[in-house]
Amino acid sequence: METIAFFNLKGGVGKTTSAVNIAWQAANEGIPTLLWDLDPQGASSWLFNRTVKSSAKPKKLVTGKSPIGDLVRNTDFENLDIIPADFSFRHIDQILLEQVERGKHNSIAKLVEPFSENYALMILDCPPSFSMLTEQIFATADSLFIPLIPSHLSLRTFEQTYEFFKEHKLKAKRLHGFFNMVDKRRSLHRVMLAHPPKILKNGLKTAIPYAAIVEKMGDLRQPLPAFDKTSRVSKAYDNLWYEIKQTLSEFKD
Ligand SMILES: Nc1ncnc2c1ncn2[C@@H]1O[C@H](COP(=O)(O)OP(=O)(O)O)[C@@H](O)[C@H]1O
Ligand SMILES: [Mg+2]
Repeated sequence: METIAFFNLKGGVGKTTSAVNIAWQAANEGIPTLLWDLDPQGASSWLFNRTVKSSAKPKKLVTGKSPIGDLVRNTDFENLDIIPADFSFRHIDQILLEQVERGKHNSIAKLVEPFSENYALMILDCPPSFSMLTEQIFATADSLFIPLIPSHLSLRTFEQTYEFFKEHKLKAKRLHGFFNMVDKRRSLHRVMLAHPPKILKNGLKTAIPYAAIVEKMGDLRQPLPAFDKTSRVSKAYDNLWYEIKQTLSEFKD
């Protein structure tokens, strides 16, 4: 199983939109896919119209006393399951910290591992923060994808993540930025796309355009490519998925 994460310190940049659309792309190719909504705001759970079945105590889940597998729900799409967000997970950091103090350094990796029996791809939709949870996600994911709206501030947050990886001796090669909500009418967007800064050298080439049809995902509560195959933005998601696969040894062409 490959594990990928959509992460950015900033909110509203397209993590959830990308996680949901890429999950659909993978499932549509017949890849058994599990999307874990780790953001207590629960946007991807909402888009798939799923909530947590039983609210197991986060501490019991983290320590393995309640099986995390019980939280898995199907979606309306074949090959695509979801672990919906649990609002009580907003306190998970404290629990992860207690575990670290007991010498258990990556509880998230331990929770992810058993899913490899049933899934070939695990997608983590991350909350917009630096926390013990995200640190453990950084250490767990095979590749991390960082949606970036072309702007100087956006690049600054990418740099902060990149620096964090270097400082903690994590492989920064696993960090792949990509531009989202690109509006070619804006000169800064054009300039950044034409001359991406050096720090994005492992970035994906596909840029997702800004398009009103993306908002329709919320009206229909469906991934974009499930109801639209022909728009420019859907085609961009096709290309993004192709590029994501090239970063993963199991799916590389
Ligand atoms: N390419 C795009 N074009 C237009 N709107 C977009 C695009 N990508 C995301 N959005 C919209 O931007 C908002 C934030 O996206 P979301 O994926 O929820 O961000 P995050 O998970 O990073 O907080 C949502 O309303 C979403 O529909
Ligand atoms: Mg989100």
